[in-house]
Amino acid sequence: MPEPITIRVKRFDPETDAESYWQDYTFEPPSEDSTLLDCINHIKWFIDGTLTYRMSCRSAICGSCAMRVNGGGQLVCNSQYRDHLDADNTITVEPAGNMPVVKDLVTDATGFWEKIRAVDPYIRSDREREAEGEHLMSPEDFSNIDDASTCIMCGACYSECASYEIDKNFLGPAALAKAQRVVHDTRDEEQGPRLARLSEYGGMWDCAHCFACVQACPKPVNPLYRIVDLRNEAHRRNFHDNNGSRHARGFVDIIEESGWLDEAKLPLKSVGSLKEFVTDLLPMGIRMGVKNKFRPNPMHLLPGRHHPPVPKMNEITKIIDKTKAADPADNE
Ligand code: FES
Repeated sequence: MPEPITIRVKRFDPETDAESYWQDYTFEPPSEDSTLLDCINHIKWFIDGTLTYRMSCRSAICGSCAMRVNGGGQLVCNSQYRDHLDADNTITVEPAGNMPVVKDLVTDATGFWEKIRAVDPYIRSDREREAEGEHLMSPEDFSNIDDASTCIMCGACYSECASYEIDKNFLGPAALAKAQRVVHDTRDEEQGPRLARLSEYGGMWDCAHCFACVQACPKPVNPLYRIVDLRNEAHRRNFHDNNGSRHARGFVDIIEESGWLDEAKLPLKSVGSLKEFVTDLLPMGIRMGVKNKFRPNPMHLLPGRHHPPVPKMNEITKIIDKTKAADPADNE
């Protein structure tokens, strides 16, 4: 028989609890090869029938068993419990993050689905249905959407998204991956309007690159990379009039000057108007200055002035030139 383990579950019943609490269950897992879901089922079926959670397929297909395991979002049906044990033979399980808790491990995913709907994840086309009835894609074209197509919409990425956690306007990794899948679908005819909407506040440029979604995703979606795909496509199609695009191009411009990333210059290159500078940037800069958060060298903010170049600046120039040659979108 397997050694006893402890699963520590964060529990909450809105009818009886003012706040959540931890409950430990110590037991022998059904077998050495049990999944974490098998263990949670064991608790439910043999120890405590009040434990509440979602599951259905037990095969990493339906996406319903996403929750936080040892602090990170994931499916509990697609890995063995042994992979999650800490030094005390304990596994911590909590409800998915970024969603209100309904009961125990069950969350209200309404906000998640609203984000998915917001990107209009359907192919839009006015083309007449051809005689044979199918609009085919080449394998090469399909390779651009292959990864995003594997999304099972479990919400594990959304659970861990730091950008969404601080700004609920952000569409989040799952919805943006879904958007990438439609934008790169050659049968869709709405790419332009889609990229325009996705370039706005809350869209593709508001991801903070924390990589938490890549870690959490149980499939090969890699949402952050799909967001980068969207940004590249937006650049290729000249969607430059937004803070995100200006920020990305300003980043390269600054590095090209001296090899240093001068953080004080970057916001100046990102804003689109004097009004935005006065209403948004200046007050934030003053607050940061008061809290001693940054100390720019004022001389570097003058046009044509910058840090003395880093040693081996020519190596950095070579990298930038090579990148631009590889993808013309980077020249724009
Ligand atoms: S139970 Fe369906 S994905 Fe885990």
